[in-house]
Amino acid sequence: IVKGDLLYTGKAKEMYTTNDPDILWVAYLDQATALNGKRKVAIDQKGLLNNRISSLIFKDLAKHGIPNHFVQQLSDHVQLVRRVKMIPLETVVRNAASGSFERKFDVDHLTKFATPVMEFFYKSDALDDPFINDSQIEALGVATQNTLTEMRRQALLVNQRLQTIFAEMGVQLVDFKIEFGLTDQGHVLLADEISPDSCRLVDEKTQQSLDKDVFRKNLGDLTTVYQEVLTRLAAVEGSQ
Ligand code: C5P
Repeated sequence: IVKGDLLYTGKAKEMYTTNDPDILWVAYLDQATALNGKRKVAIDQKGLLNNRISSLIFKDLAKHGIPNHFVQQLSDHVQLVRRVKMIPLETVVRNAASGSFERKFDVDHLTKFATPVMEFFYKSDALDDPFINDSQIEALGVATQNTLTEMRRQALLVNQRLQTIFAEMGVQLVDFKIEFGLTDQGHVLLADEISPDSCRLVDEKTQQSLDKDVFRKNLGDLTTVYQEVLTRLAAVEGSQ
């Protein structure tokens, strides 16, 4: 496979075309951003760690009946993925209160929910990714009701499997964000990444954050924490 033109530069990844029109080349960058990209810092090893973590998780999900865009980890910083048309929505699933939910509703940190909370945010840097509801999504033509129903179904399956994986790692999955795309056939396919950048993870014993909150709140060294997540994940998945 041969790397082609730069398609898109994101906050933590670059996407390139390849000589195969159905495959994209994703380079995970050694940098972290917060406040929707307003704060950007170079972080040693971060791209490599997220690439490995995301690859292991996508492989696990596929094995457990949740297809996704992951094709292959090519090198430390690169993975190949199937090309899809991204739906400009962030799907957030929450098992306990944290972050924007905690602020919005003034509830105690880590209050557990009887059933998972699901929220959609409209992906727009200019608008700071606003919350968006079903009828707003439909009115703007962002996704059809059928697509939304399928996204919800898959998001709950992802939540179930991720909760199982992280429980085996001694980690509580507080919440996470995923993104979906549409295949040429119009099927909803899980895409983007699943890593400590997009999940809130709390160590069950110490209650320590094992995710990007370490960077957002200046709680310590991000690389050490992400390495800890990878080490535990690799032990559970039986590979490095
Ligand atoms: O900030 P908030 O509480 O809404 O975030 C919910 C979850 O979505 C967190 O796990 C956070 O890391 C993730 N998220 C993300 N990218 C964003 C916003 C939130 O990965 N732009």
